[in-house]
Amino acid sequence: MSWDLPPHEAVRPRRHLRALSDPAVTVRAPGKVNLFLRSGPLGADGFHQLVTVFQAVALFEEVTATQVLPGAGITLTAEGIGAELVPLDETNLAWRAAALLARHAGRSADVTLHIRKGVPVAGGMAGGSADAAATLVACDALWETRCSRAELLQLAAALGSDVPFCVMGNTAIGTGRGHLLTPVITSGEFHWAFAILNSGLSTPEVYRAFDELVAMAESFADGPGEVLDPTPDPELLRALRSGDAEGVGRSLYNDLQAAALCLRPDLAQTIDIAQVSGALGVLVSGSGPTVAALAKSERHAKALASIWVAEGVADEVVTTYGPAPGARVV
Ligand code: C5P
Repeated sequence: MSWDLPPHEAVRPRRHLRALSDPAVTVRAPGKVNLFLRSGPLGADGFHQLVTVFQAVALFEEVTATQVLPGAGITLTAEGIGAELVPLDETNLAWRAAALLARHAGRSADVTLHIRKGVPVAGGMAGGSADAAATLVACDALWETRCSRAELLQLAAALGSDVPFCVMGNTAIGTGRGHLLTPVITSGEFHWAFAILNSGLSTPEVYRAFDELVAMAESFADGPGEVLDPTPDPELLRALRSGDAEGVGRSLYNDLQAAALCLRPDLAQTIDIAQVSGALGVLVSGSGPTVAALAKSERHAKALASIWVAEGVADEVVTTYGPAPGARVV
């Protein structure tokens, strides 16, 4: 058989985008629920000072970073729940995470990223932040940039308020924008049911509604409200430490819930249904619209989810547990 090519053409390798050996790193990072969230007023930096308690739950975003040849740049694909809603360009937090790490390490950003989604999109559960956290850890390993934990957390904070927590995982107090973390000791597992809606709420929009509610309350009270107490509810921390799910349920609290309910009044019914069905506590997760119900057991969580389905108040339901580990290579 003749290839009809001069010998030098026959042996010269083609310049593919992918390297021959395709080394790849896959990292899983968790979504979160805020067990407690108290917000101060809007700061000059465009953010609110928060005191929050995050818990990572065992719903994961998985990012595979695959090596490509120098100069190939970043490419991004996504699959899984709500993947069609995810932008696949430089506005995606995973893309921005790879670009930021490359800049930090003084190298060019050449990588193929593939996201497998397991956290609801725009649901107040930090799905996009988990993508950024997973990408930082995956590219750090793939490119052998050897960032310290502190460096990774600093880069994570530059990407978004929830990204450091998705790197860290488990349960933690968040202050500042939510990005300054202190781990919280917990015992045992907490079982959760989540009611998910296909049309999300935008976080800035929820914060704007929160600011309007605060301004209204202050005008009635003839002056500014209380200064933000920098510590979360001690009863919540005690209940987490001793694995007291009922105590955790009683202490669930979210300042953004009223704002989310103003924008989505239908969430009140989702909350009511879980409450009358014996949930230990129910609240809007972060800026919503996902509603989180703390259950007595895994079986009870499944029952709560079935009731939401039967009542037709959720587009999707999911049950899981927390705490879950932070961003890890799998
Ligand atoms: O930090 P992140 O990019 O996730 O924040 C998205 C938006 O949510 C911010 O631009 C801001 O409008 C709002 N936000 C806030 N205060 C926080 C966190 C977020 O006002 N602590």
